[in-house]
Amino acid sequence: MTKPLNIGMIGYGFMGRAHSNGYRKVNNFFPLEHRPVLKAVCARNRDKAQAFADTWGYESIETDWRELLKREDIDAVDICTPNNLHKEVAIAAAEAGKMILCEKPLAMNVKEGEQMVAAVKKAGVRNMVWYNYRRVPAVTLAKQIIDEGRLGRVFHYRAVFLQDWTISADVPQGGAGTWRLDVDAAGSGVTGDLLAHCIDTAIWLNGPITKVTAMTETFVKERKHAESGKVAKVGIDDACAFLAQFKNGALAVFESTRYARGHKALYTFEINGERASISWDLHDLHRLGYFDHRDESKLRGWRSIHVTDSDHPYMGNWWVPGLQIGYEHSFVHQVADFLKSLETGENAQPDFESALETQRVCDAVLKSAASGKWTDVV
Ligand SMILES: NC(=O)c1ccc[n+]([C@@H]2O[C@H](COP(=O)([O-])OP(=O)(O)OC[C@H]3O[C@@H](n4cnc5c(N)ncnc54)[C@H](O)[C@@H]3O)[C@@H](O)[C@H]2O)c1
Repeated sequence: MTKPLNIGMIGYGFMGRAHSNGYRKVNNFFPLEHRPVLKAVCARNRDKAQAFADTWGYESIETDWRELLKREDIDAVDICTPNNLHKEVAIAAAEAGKMILCEKPLAMNVKEGEQMVAAVKKAGVRNMVWYNYRRVPAVTLAKQIIDEGRLGRVFHYRAVFLQDWTISADVPQGGAGTWRLDVDAAGSGVTGDLLAHCIDTAIWLNGPITKVTAMTETFVKERKHAESGKVAKVGIDDACAFLAQFKNGALAVFESTRYARGHKALYTFEINGERASISWDLHDLHRLGYFDHRDESKLRGWRSIHVTDSDHPYMGNWWVPGLQIGYEHSFVHQVADFLKSLETGENAQPDFESALETQRVCDAVLKSAASGKWTDVV
């Protein structure tokens, strides 16, 4: 018999759906001691919350997250709201003794993140941040290959995350769907939204980032606010490019924008080591590029590893070799790892403390862009 883990989810948008799908599928594919129970979903609009609960099988709804936290039948709180609510909800959830699964970025800034880390430590509650790209099997395989020492000394890391959905000046800021353009709701633009993913993966694969120099641009300076109806200054970064150095000496280039016409969600990274290189592309997420200089010279070249074999990370739990999985499965894997952490007693990674490192890099990037100077990550 599996043990129930009662989930209370706050927010039912894009991530609310991705996580709910993960909770529903995980026990069909992963043998685990615990089973998520969709106990309650919380959103401000009662009808919409009820419609979501009916679609996804939640047993009940709440319209105020504080009421959700008071409920004794909730074990774990899943924060799927815009970034400006992460801190308040997470600290209150920790004080209520709940486990916390929080969406990324951890917080609006380092100061908030530090308060959140202190709160979960004080309360001793299990915590995790949804940097789900770590759980794409090809990305997890990249981690294994690096940890096996196959790359040798790493010289270069480069990552981009490109989109094109905010080019029109008619896109509003604030409100449902467009809160990402409102600095008060998002904290920053592409830096906290997209580069945070690239930074999390980079730190995981190649260790700490020590210093950065960045530039940002806000191409559309004013936009109508969806809630007030007034035209207001845009406070987020529309695009950001930065150079960085890792503690291991490797140099890095990162770029992200929502103004790369033709790109919807192009996340790619490449790592160049002394003996081998690795590349990955979200649009072909089940493949890992690998070049090994030690191969016989006449056969040497980039391999495209189809990451579907049963000895590839997570893949033994899915179909048969050759049949690939997709984006949604990274969330199933993250739920599986969270449930596994209840068996082992260790937080599934990244936990709040680890995600705070990504926040420190984001803050340093924004500070550097404002000052025009190289900035240490502190
Ligand atoms: N891991 C990833 O790849 C990934 C992808 C997208 C978004 N995110 C993160 O997930 C979070 C949510 O993003 P999204 O794309 O799902 O946004 P969304 O706009 O689709 O959904 C946000 C939800 O929060 C709800 N909400 C807002 N204020 C609330 C309140 N006071 N009480 C209860 N509910 C409230 C909204 O009603 C909505 O259902 C953000 O922190 C974002 O950065 C992560």
